[in-house]
Amino acid sequence: MSEVRNTGRKTGEVLLDLQRISLSFGGVKALTDISFDVREHEIRAIIGPNGAGKSSMLNVINGVYHPQHGQIVFRGKVRQRMHPTEAARNGVARTFQNIALFKGMTVLDNIMTGRNTRMRSGLIANAIWWGPARREETMHRAKVEEIIDFLEIQHIRKTPVGRLPYGLQKRVELARALAAEPELLLLDEPMAGMNLEEKRDMCRFILDVNEQFGTTIVLIEHDMGVVMDISDRVVVLDYGKKIGDGAPAQVKADPEVIRAYLGAAHHH
Ligand SMILES: Nc1ncnc2c1ncn2[C@@H]1O[C@H](COP(=O)(O)OP(=O)(O)OP(=O)(O)O)[C@@H](O)[C@H]1O
Ligand SMILES: [Mg+2]
Repeated sequence: MSEVRNTGRKTGEVLLDLQRISLSFGGVKALTDISFDVREHEIRAIIGPNGAGKSSMLNVINGVYHPQHGQIVFRGKVRQRMHPTEAARNGVARTFQNIALFKGMTVLDNIMTGRNTRMRSGLIANAIWWGPARREETMHRAKVEEIIDFLEIQHIRKTPVGRLPYGLQKRVELARALAAEPELLLLDEPMAGMNLEEKRDMCRFILDVNEQFGTTIVLIEHDMGVVMDISDRVVVLDYGKKIGDGAPAQVKADPEVIRAYLGAAHHH
């Protein structure tokens, strides 16, 4: 079964189904009884005020946090407790709210680290540049070069990441996530702190990734213009609870969402 969304995008079967997820840290309830699904090829946005539990939700999806209650169904199977590296091996890649790159390493080397979960020959074999490892290295390099071209960052490939302006660092982080060739890509505020032009570029890249690689995307974003433009469906969180879920226009007109989030000027 597939559906055509308001964006004109065709989405498929449910890829990820979060069922009644609850997560707390000591006395702090970060997530309370949250359910929603993500369909293949969808761009699914998560919005809500600061501290609502958005990043925690992504951390649950890629195995950084383990919810005390609830169940995660991925590709139709209940997923067992999983470490982030296993999640990565199972096709889940992400970027972080605070850029997590090796600042002293070049753009190219940072993106190469995104291939780690796909490297069969161990690091030692790769280090001594030996037989199968060499062939594998060549293949990984080619993939990384393809992503560098795709995100238009050829001119900075040898630059240490720490020397780049913030907007470009965000793009490099996206490149590293793409290097893992994920089926599901989790983006935590990929446009935060960007100027208009940088935002426009990032929107275009996200749409291109979704369209050309068929990647399913879960995106946390505060800019409602962006959310309205690129997402198929939106989940709204507030104080760890889900208060809205639906097409962008529907969510935007929801009185409870307006009261808790859109009407107020308390975010960022
Ligand atoms: N590792 C942790 N230990 C303790 N509390 C945490 C931890 N991670 C998140 N929390 C708490 O869980 C709640 C939700 O935080 P989370 O970072 O998920 O919110 P958010 O919606 O991403 O907010 P923001 O828009 O500011 O990024 C907050 O009260 C936060 O303090
Ligand atoms: Mg967050």
